[in-house]
This record gives sequence, structure tokens and C-alpha cells, in this order.
Amino acid sequence: MNATRRSFLSQVAMWTSLAASYGAAAWFAARYLYPSKRPARSRSLFVGRLDAIPDGDARVIEDLRGVPVQVVRAGDQLRAISTVCPHLGCRVRWEPQNTRFFCPCHNGVFDAEGKVVSGPPPRPLDRYEVEVVDGSVYLKVKEPA
Ligand code: FES
Repeated sequence: MNATRRSFLSQVAMWTSLAASYGAAAWFAARYLYPSKRPARSRSLFVGRLDAIPDGDARVIEDLRGVPVQVVRAGDQLRAISTVCPHLGCRVRWEPQNTRFFCPCHNGVFDAEGKVVSGPPPRPLDRYEVEVVDGSVYLKVKEPA
């Protein structure tokens, strides 16, 4: 192999590896700047048997982030509502005798749907989906990103 041919082949090899390196770097930069958006996956957490929750009573279960959620039964309906007050994050509690959620920190009051009735909370309590399958109650939660 003469020197010109060897020089040409080494030039081709150098430029090919350079292009591959820059291409890989550009691909990683694009993935970093524009991450792919996966749709949030949801999971069903077992709450209990429907017939084990008396009418007007509630069960507490934690979502995947550890936030306690109250599942309240009202007749055939179930409501799953976060127990974290949207004012300053205190825990609200269900008061079945008053059919309301109450936050003891600053006397925030929410109705059975989690809507603000009185006090400083700026918005309603967060709601969750709940479903009954074959007599079992499940809380539907989104997996954390
Ligand atoms: Fe609940 Fe202030 S933290 S009313």
C-alpha cells in the first residue's frame, strides 16, 4: 500500500469516527433537551370490600406518594379525596356527624365533595378516581413521573 492510499484511508476513518461521535453527542443532547413524554400510567390500589365500609364512613389509604386519601361512602357512591389541606398542607379529617371535612389548623371547612365552605383554603381538596370491581373498592392513582 502506498503512502497516498494509506493517508486517504486514515482520513476516511478519522472523518467517519468524528461524524459518529458528533452524531451520538447530538442525539444525547436532543434527548436531554426534548425528553420523550410518556403518558402517566395509573394503578389501582385495593381499599377494601364495599360491604365492609358502612354508609357515611370512610377508609384511609395512601397513594403512591404517601399522601393519605379518604374514601368516603355515601349510599352507593364513593368519593376519594385527599386529606392534605390546600392552604398550608395540614391533614383534614372527615367528620361523618357533620358530613364535612375539617382542617383543624385554621378551621378550614370543606363539604362532602371537597369544595371549600369556609376558612382560608384557596381551592378544593384534590379528588381521585375510585371504582368498584366485584364488590372490591379500588383507588385509581397515577404513578409518579
Ligand atoms: Fe388547612 Fe390552613 S392548613 S386551613
